[in-house]
Amino acid sequence: MRILLVGATGTIGKAIASALAPRHEVLAAARSGTANVLNIDKPESIRTLMAGIGRVDAIVCAAGQAVFRPLPDLTDEDFALSLHSKMMGQVNLIRFGLAAVVDGGSITLTSGTLAQNPIPGGAAISLVNAGLEGFARAAALEAPRQIRVNVVSPGWVTETLLANRMDPAAGTPAAAVAQFYLQAIEGRMTGQTIVVRRTIAG
Ligand SMILES: NC(=O)c1ccc[n+]([C@@H]2O[C@H](COP(=O)([O-])OP(=O)(O)OC[C@H]3O[C@@H](n4cnc5c(N)ncnc54)[C@H](OP(=O)(O)O)[C@@H]3O)[C@@H](O)[C@H]2O)c1
Repeated sequence: MRILLVGATGTIGKAIASALAPRHEVLAAARSGTANVLNIDKPESIRTLMAGIGRVDAIVCAAGQAVFRPLPDLTDEDFALSLHSKMMGQVNLIRFGLAAVVDGGSITLTSGTLAQNPIPGGAAISLVNAGLEGFARAAALEAPRQIRVNVVSPGWVTETLLANRMDPAAGTPAAAVAQFYLQAIEGRMTGQTIVVRRTIAG
């Protein structure tokens, strides 16, 4: 398959790229450092990339920012960034990306465990993650030409915990997280939130 991978240089994105590489062509995208330059926070950037990318079998996104901050301290700017980047950035990948996806292809987005398992400081992220999951469920119903739409919801990634000097015990290695994206790309499910479970972490 020919697969556009947004966030290809990130912790999760690099692992997805490695998992896809043996049997798929990966078109890496990020704001910098990739052959395809894309800023999902900017609708025009997505439109421009999609106009030039040709047909793809799948679009995968492991990118987008949301702000972690206690509720009383969250500013208008924090909400605006979270909504524009992680949420609308990925919503717009569906809106502007569908036309580039072949019949029966797929789009896979990324939410996160805080949608269902909130923690103090995570309200803006919970908002965005839950919104993405709701949007994807609905978008899957309306996607044309049997295109499938799913969301992968990771918990903490081991490499991220280590980078933040946190206990890695509760994490899932990025390589194991990447396998859930492969399920979404190569499987038949649509409208699903695929929750990363640590039981198959390897
Ligand atoms: N890591 C975790 O523990 C974890 C857990 C649950 C959910 N998630 C979610 O998974 C996603 C990826 O996480 P990660 O830890 O892999 O992040 P990361 O290591 O910070 O990597 C993010 C990737 O996305 C790209 N990117 C960031 N903003 C972008 C934008 N506006 N437009 C296009 N590309 C952009 C980055 O490259 P550039 O900076 O060059 O653009 C990079 O390739 C995030 O949405 C995160 O909330 C992560």
